[in-house]
Amino acid sequence: VDARFAPFASDLSTSLALIEDAVRSRREPGVDPSEVVARIQEELRAGRAHAGLFRRDGRTTGLALWAPSGPLGTAVRLVYLEPTVVSKDAYAELFGAITRNAGPVAFASPMPGLTFEEEATVLRSFGFAPFRRSEMRFPSIAPVPSPELPKGVSVRSLRPTDEAEAARVHAAAYRDRFDRYLFLEDLDPVRDAAQVASLLFGGRFGEMLFWASALAEANGRAVGATAVIRSGGRALIADVCVDPAYGGRGVGRALVVATVRALRTRNESAIALAVTEENHRAVRLYEHVGFIRALGPTREWYNTRLIPFPPDAD
Ligand SMILES: CC(C)(COP(=O)(O)OP(=O)(O)OC[C@H]1O[C@@H](n2cnc3c(N)ncnc32)[C@H](O)[C@@H]1OP(=O)(O)O)[C@@H](O)C(=O)NCCC(=O)NCCS
Repeated sequence: VDARFAPFASDLSTSLALIEDAVRSRREPGVDPSEVVARIQEELRAGRAHAGLFRRDGRTTGLALWAPSGPLGTAVRLVYLEPTVVSKDAYAELFGAITRNAGPVAFASPMPGLTFEEEATVLRSFGFAPFRRSEMRFPSIAPVPSPELPKGVSVRSLRPTDEAEAARVHAAAYRDRFDRYLFLEDLDPVRDAAQVASLLFGGRFGEMLFWASALAEANGRAVGATAVIRSGGRALIADVCVDPAYGGRGVGRALVVATVRALRTRNESAIALAVTEENHRAVRLYEHVGFIRALGPTREWYNTRLIPFPPDAD
């Protein structure tokens, strides 16, 4: 069998047609395929994503799209095989070709045309396990719960000068958590948190809305924080974290309620966040505050040999 990767640009029209087929095959409700295709083209042009054409028996029959995902490895964002050649073996070959071309893979995407069981057989053989991500929104007509502060805890809005304190809480909250690996900047938890805080505070993921972000304090120290950014025309709660020493007492809830109240006060009607479904504590918190699922859940796969914490570690 002649299986290999051809550079994406070697056949641009085939490449773009395959990307179009791949994106349409996902049929994600609420997602406009042509917007996704345009975004992918832009990322390829800017070098933020890489793609390869999969060739088998002298014919281009599929493609893979991946992005560098920091210190851990790459994130495979899209794989696709033409319906006429879809099989577990063909996808296993394609996946093998990706690891040879792109290096260690940290995250993998679904394989269109396979059943979940078939996809699981292929990806488990490479050491992957599934997880799901959803976008939740706070309905514009829902009442905002009243703020209730746990004893000894106060909540105020975040300030640009809180970066180091927010980083310290972020490091403690995410240290042994799966979710840290989704946006990994550095393998070391403390350096990782410092970088994430610096990127967030610096507006690298979108304008930081300090007035909507919240900091919880107890005994003069920060014990929890939220970070809200402007992203895709909505207010996105990009981070919610509580020092584990203060967990399970309502600090997370108080922070999220304070954030939603601040946004509502300034008539922000589109309030969203993304959550790992297996992070039951976070999901329960958001549900009880009044968030509802708006997009997803998407199915994704993580490399259990590279990520030591399962997503449902609670
Ligand atoms: C998620 C997180 C912010 C929650 O903070 P917290 O202060 O412990 O949350 P709260 O005490 O306000 O509890 C919130 C809800 O979770 C529930 N909960 C608490 N511990 C739980 C557990 N071990 N398993 C499931 N649910 C749990 C509580 O019952 C509460 O629900 P309720 O409204 O029915 O009472 C915190 O655990 C954290 O920082 N986790 C790591 C970072 C992270 O995953 N952030 C979210 C990314 S989307």
